[in-house]
Amino acid sequence: MERTLVLLKPDALQRGLVGQILKRFEEKGMKIAGMKMMQMTQEIAARHYRAHVEKGFYPSLVKFMTSSPIIALAIEGVGAVHVCRKMTGATFGLKAEPGTIRGDYGVSTSFNLIHSSEDKESAAWELPIFFKEEELFGYSKALDGWVSCEEDLKKAASL
Ligand code: PPS
Repeated sequence: MERTLVLLKPDALQRGLVGQILKRFEEKGMKIAGMKMMQMTQEIAARHYRAHVEKGFYPSLVKFMTSSPIIALAIEGVGAVHVCRKMTGATFGLKAEPGTIRGDYGVSTSFNLIHSSEDKESAAWELPIFFKEEELFGYSKALDGWVSCEEDLKKAASL
């Protein structure tokens, strides 16, 4: 089953939106495979945001992400990368579609509440930055069979 990295950023915790955001993923049929409250260090930020190191916003992004605790989530499910990314919405909250997390809860580019891996390659690279293998859990739930079927998995593989 596919896994992706979701980070609930400092503003999500400061604004008391953790429960509401988590609820959305659970209601969608995504499963929590890992969850960790932590302080993002300069070193973790440098690894995670390595692709943006040359961008003008990089210093303020790192300052924000290291300013207060975050929650790292490994989210598992059918098409988890695609699903979580769609649910996250566009970077700039003002432009993000209603119904997305950024579209419903924010108006900012800097304070945009959540990170989710861009694609499967990014997810595979980002997850180990935040989770050791033994901190991730694969488990079944009684309602799994009511959430997805084999056909869904095949279709999701091509996303
Ligand atoms: S880019 O330039 O298109 O690659 O950037 P983008 O994918 O939109 O954003 C990459 C991450 O940088 C954050 N970001 C910013 N932070 C602070 N200030 C400004 N102006 C800004 N612009 C982009 C953005 O939220 C992305 O963070 P993550 O954690 O990946 O969502």
